[in-house]
Amino acid sequence: MAELRLERVTKKYDSEVYGAHDITFDIKDKEFTVLVGPSGCGKTTTLRLIAGLEACDSGKIFIDGSCVNDVSPKDRDVAMVFQNYALYPHMSAYDNMAFGLRMRRYPKKEINERVNEAAQILGISELLQRKPRQLSGGQRQRVAVGRAIVRQPKVFLFDEPLSNLDAKLRVQMRAELSRLHRRFEATIVYVTHDQVEAMTLGEKIIVINEARVQQVADPTSLYQRPKNRFVAGFIGSPPMNFIAGAIKKRQGKITFHSADVNIGLNKRTEHCTNREVILGIRPTDFFHTRGSKINIVVDVVEPMGNEFYIHGRCGTTMLSARLPDEMQTTIGSVVTLAIDPKKIYIFDAKTEENLI
Ligand SMILES: Nc1ncnc2c1ncn2[C@@H]1O[C@H](COP(=O)(O)OP(=O)(O)OP(=O)(O)O)[C@@H](O)[C@H]1O
Ligand SMILES: [Mg+2]
Repeated sequence: MAELRLERVTKKYDSEVYGAHDITFDIKDKEFTVLVGPSGCGKTTTLRLIAGLEACDSGKIFIDGSCVNDVSPKDRDVAMVFQNYALYPHMSAYDNMAFGLRMRRYPKKEINERVNEAAQILGISELLQRKPRQLSGGQRQRVAVGRAIVRQPKVFLFDEPLSNLDAKLRVQMRAELSRLHRRFEATIVYVTHDQVEAMTLGEKIIVINEARVQQVADPTSLYQRPKNRFVAGFIGSPPMNFIAGAIKKRQGKITFHSADVNIGLNKRTEHCTNREVILGIRPTDFFHTRGSKINIVVDVVEPMGNEFYIHGRCGTTMLSARLPDEMQTTIGSVVTLAIDPKKIYIFDAKTEENLI
């Protein structure tokens, strides 16, 4: 059993910068949770607070229902894989992995079994006698993951553990981590700034920006029902397009107006009438035959193989869109796209909350 709860946790650094601002979330036993957000938003700080390496200024952290604010890091039964691996440079990979167990006085035989098993899972059995400096960045990262696995802790905290791997190994390790999670039935808090990694790994995703929680949801809900403009723009690639304007209703017709576009909307946006808003549309949601047409002058074409993306402008509004492969286009040409009113998002211009 390992449930984790953060209750209004705040940590301010000397420089008046918040590392965590009123952070509240619950993580269930055996849940794979991903903390995601841009660089500097407070992901590492949040993990360090859970591990006990930083003290909260206010708020409480609970593991299995007990408040651990005053429990020392070594007694929290939490293993953290650091962003920069933090391996002992003078020790072999084997000794690095065995270190925590030796400190806890595990029998030699069990240490050996656990280290070898973890090494096999991670594909580093051949490298166990090497020192960190004799390993590549990716191999070091796997040793650091192994060091956490062998401890079989209540909670794993992973701080961007795949950031130094090449693209292929990253995908492979991602699948491996999912398998490890099922096998050890561990509670995992995994940090990344990569929204694709968050979407593929997380059962639950916590989006953080500027030290505050923006939304907690499963990947599908996060994509389909982002709570605000930040989440909408952060989740999904290429990012959602945003157009500032206002919604008006004339003779029963609801429309969105900006300097460059007029888009017919449907009933579900009626309550936003006479409001300054931001209209959002994902690049993948254009090119439905239904809806208001807009013209885009193409200035970048990105072929992806089975489809391609264009970036261009409609007046002064910059837009990105996915086009089907058969629709050939070149830089400088004009592409007509349709906006289906069912596919759009509306955010309040001031609060940036999702209004529909
Ligand atoms: N020891 C410290 N002293 C002062 N400010 C700090 C300290 N550690 C972090 N910060 C600041 O707190 C904020 C959050 O930092 P944190 O390391 O938690 O971000 P992060 O989300 O992990 O970013 P990254 O993705 O770049 O690793 C940043 O603005 C950072 O500059
Ligand atoms: Mg970090």
